[in-house]
Amino acid sequence: MIIPVKWTDECVEMLDQRLLPTEEVWLKLKTYNDVADGIRDMVIRGAPAIGVSCAYGIALGLKNFVGMNVEDMEEELDYICEVLAKTRPTAINLFWAIDRMKRTFAKAKEEGKNVSEIKQVMIDDAKAIHEEDIESQRLIAQFGGELLEDDSNVLTHCNAGALATGGVWGTALGVIRGAKDQGKKVTVIADETRPYLQGARLTAWELLQDDIPVTLITDNQSGHLMKKGMVQAVVVGSDRIAANGDVANKIGTYMVAVLAKQHGIPFYVAAPMSTVDMNCPTGEEIPIEERDIREITHVKDIQLAPEGISVNNYAFDVTPNEMVDAIITEKGVARKPYVESLRKMAEDN
Ligand code: MRU
Repeated sequence: MIIPVKWTDECVEMLDQRLLPTEEVWLKLKTYNDVADGIRDMVIRGAPAIGVSCAYGIALGLKNFVGMNVEDMEEELDYICEVLAKTRPTAINLFWAIDRMKRTFAKAKEEGKNVSEIKQVMIDDAKAIHEEDIESQRLIAQFGGELLEDDSNVLTHCNAGALATGGVWGTALGVIRGAKDQGKKVTVIADETRPYLQGARLTAWELLQDDIPVTLITDNQSGHLMKKGMVQAVVVGSDRIAANGDVANKIGTYMVAVLAKQHGIPFYVAAPMSTVDMNCPTGEEIPIEERDIREITHVKDIQLAPEGISVNNYAFDVTPNEMVDAIITEKGVARKPYVESLRKMAEDN
């Protein structure tokens, strides 16, 4: 059972995903700045895992607050949130966790709690966010598992597994785990996911740990495999889903969705409601992170491309809602038109 982030009484512990699959090293992060660096530098990644880590980072920052005055503590909270908000722009779970923790603080303050009581309230809520995330993935696994046919070969992109969430299930990989628990035979095709190789390094590692049959391919093989009838469904996670069902996910997801459409293969997105941004009307408004070009020009210290070459390194793309056959959340399975189905789910939330 993989849980990539943990709260202990002195620190936040993170499994260093930069070193997987060859080394399993746990880092002890003692300040909110360490947590912010951990998110920015991809020690932990994946939208729900970023949200959980952010909540723990806020709780840790306030636990380390030395004053006795609640107003000063609130100023510190605002500053901590500003630092964390600058780490990764696309994953909405980061901002969702900041909003939720700020609301928790405001409620505790209104109830007249003192500094030490508020510290405990914030730790408890960060732990609750973590537990709720795992429970959401369990439900996503159950609902999504029902959509997969027996004897399916499922293609997934990036890593939307336990490593990318609070742990245990994952979103896209949760759907695969759910189908397996329902007695279905499911095998997985993991594409490498250039340039950061979350598929090769993380999805392949995670599925091997669980004895789920997985075959690794280069990103450019997916069309060929689909044409040969070797893919029965595509399941991916998401970093942010707009109110109209447009889906931001790891760069290359859109390409896979276009191919799936061409070959009549169902394309499913699995994500908790904390990934649905009802304030973002369409995918056009989703900020797309651009990362260091060295991720493309180099592999570790080996230079692949000529020095001085112009490079684009968009980390995410947006798949238009019409290409998405279903969005699987902990509230159930949303179908088109997503403007209505997602609104209903968000209202029930
Ligand atoms: O850059 P990353 O590794 O944080 O990107 C992760 C993804 O794109 C995942 O597919 C997404 O966050 C869903 S994780 C359950």
